[in-house]
Amino acid sequence: MQATTAQLLNQPELLQQECQTLLKRFSQLLKPLAKQHWPLLQSRLSEQLPVLLRLYLSLYAERYDCYFHLEQLLKSLAKSLANRPDYLCQLDQQPQDWHKQNNQLGGACYVDLFAGDFEGLKQRIPYLKQTGINYLHLMPLFKAPEPNSDGGYAVSDYRTTMPSLGSMQQLAELMAELHQQGIRPVLDFVFNHTSDEHSWAQKAQKGDPDYRDFYFFLTEAERDRYAPSLREIFPEIRRGCFTQDPASGLWIWTTFNSFQWDLNYANPAVFNAMAEEMLFLANQGAAVLRLDALAFVWKEAGSNCENLPKAHLLIQAFNAVARIAAPALQFKSEAIVHPDEVVKYIAPTECQLSYNPLLMALLWNSLATRKTRLLTESLKRRFAIDPHCSWVNYIRCHDDIGWTFDDNVAWQLGINPEHHRHFLNQFYTGQFPGSFATGVPFQQNPVTGDCRVAGMLASLAGVEQAQLQQKPQHLEHALARIYLLNSVILSIGGLPLLYMGDELGLLNDYSFSQDPAKKDDSRWVNRVKVTETQLVQAKKPASLSGKIYQQLQQLLSCRNRLAVLGQGSTEILDSGNPHLFCYQRELAGDKLLALVNFSEQTQHLLLPATGSYTDELSGQRYQAGTIQLAPYQVLWLTPVSS
Ligand code: GLC
Ligand code: GLC
Repeated sequence: MQATTAQLLNQPELLQQECQTLLKRFSQLLKPLAKQHWPLLQSRLSEQLPVLLRLYLSLYAERYDCYFHLEQLLKSLAKSLANRPDYLCQLDQQPQDWHKQNNQLGGACYVDLFAGDFEGLKQRIPYLKQTGINYLHLMPLFKAPEPNSDGGYAVSDYRTTMPSLGSMQQLAELMAELHQQGIRPVLDFVFNHTSDEHSWAQKAQKGDPDYRDFYFFLTEAERDRYAPSLREIFPEIRRGCFTQDPASGLWIWTTFNSFQWDLNYANPAVFNAMAEEMLFLANQGAAVLRLDALAFVWKEAGSNCENLPKAHLLIQAFNAVARIAAPALQFKSEAIVHPDEVVKYIAPTECQLSYNPLLMALLWNSLATRKTRLLTESLKRRFAIDPHCSWVNYIRCHDDIGWTFDDNVAWQLGINPEHHRHFLNQFYTGQFPGSFATGVPFQQNPVTGDCRVAGMLASLAGVEQAQLQQKPQHLEHALARIYLLNSVILSIGGLPLLYMGDELGLLNDYSFSQDPAKKDDSRWVNRVKVTETQLVQAKKPASLSGKIYQQLQQLLSCRNRLAVLGQGSTEILDSGNPHLFCYQRELAGDKLLALVNFSEQTQHLLLPATGSYTDELSGQRYQAGTIQLAPYQVLWLTPVSS
């Protein structure tokens, strides 16, 4: 008698048996497709098929054609494995714990802004290596409509690149070269939506029912079952989350821009199609895929359609697919949502890496307030993750800064979260008296008053204003803020990620406001071109860029000596001083205490232990007892063994 879905999901032995049966049934089909890799596929399936089947059934068992789709998926896996280049197959054999090493450093860039095209990027490998970068996120470079591309995040073909950058073949060669040079290439997996010019969308628009099912084409009544509980992501551009199809009058789900159509993952054909695209990218050489907008991928009426349990199952299913056909591949979560939700995506079986938007937002918060309570309290709750996974700690990226801290933690500290977010927006857009920052508002919501902030690191940290006002002391503080921020992402635990251009302190670029295709999206203020002349400045310590670059290099060379800053565990501590942020790293008995002064005043702290410490950054000795930190000073203290 056949087991029911519920039995299969609840009884592991039955699930195992089912997998054995399936493997027997499919082996004649899969063997010729997997070619030379058939034995490998067999052994991986015997391990991973139960995982994949459980997830597939949890998502799609109600579909009458569930097993048909599963069979199609297995065929794609076999084909993809057969096509996997040898050098990647070798990587597949290695443990993927590189992100825990203390020498790991990430960079993120737009290929065109950073280097012109793929060829230009190859020329910049020496600069990347000189900087210490060994993980490089190349931002969307796939074919996307102009001007409606959302900076490349509206993809019309995952297998074709933007012609101005070069061909897919050239990208694959570039990624192989990066691997050779010790730099892991990272690509985006923009899987929540496609551009309306993707061939699937075009077929859907023409009325092809198979492709209509790839998206959400809703009647007004259907739309209204979902609409009331949804958040608006780009409210300045367009209200609501739906766009009317002029031909049919139906409403298409578009969480972001109206030209970015959300995919309907309740349809297993969509999962299969995107799994094929994912494996294609993995086989081109991507070591990590950044799972774009992953919080939005599953929809259910009556919910806010973010972070739903089935979104997690779906990502786990993609992960199981990767374990079978491209095991070296790692996922990075881009969940810019409530901190309790961010951590749920992080697991060896889901996303091994995740942006750390809480740390990012609260570092900026502490610089504005000169206080560290919210940072300390929030991280105490939400920094610990699975030891096999890593945070990707960043200060800036190509997007805006959203103030995604937990309102409850704020209330407990007597902070009104709404007022506080308003303050932060005022502060970082330079409207708060005495603010050092020069940022611009992004997506002010006319109803909720909500807003985010855009700007380059140096502009937000005060360099732009200090230069304009010609105040050397302010400039010094701005540089100290940049140093401080970098010191934290380099030492708190996780993979630090630089946004290329920030390492040189490049400022906001306001020219976007003259460009009709960009003027409505202020994130372009922090998408700046990096020229050859600017790169040369890195080596000129007398220049401002040179100073910023060199102080980062000093931190990096210190970090590279300290194994405890890699694998070690992290404990967030109370410093007893409201302006100081304090955490301890520990690895096999080795300890490092980081102390960070977030104010431009001298601060004191009582070091309770006995003995003496060395500040690894300056080489200076400190005795236990009351110690003094200069404005914005950072100390990396290790105990001196007696
Ligand atoms: C991500 C990207 C952002 C884009 C959005 C929609 O958040 O980082 O740039 O607008 O997804 O794809
Ligand atoms: C992301 C985030 C949102 C962000 C936007 C792009 O997915 O959820 O907060 O601002 O997309 O900028």
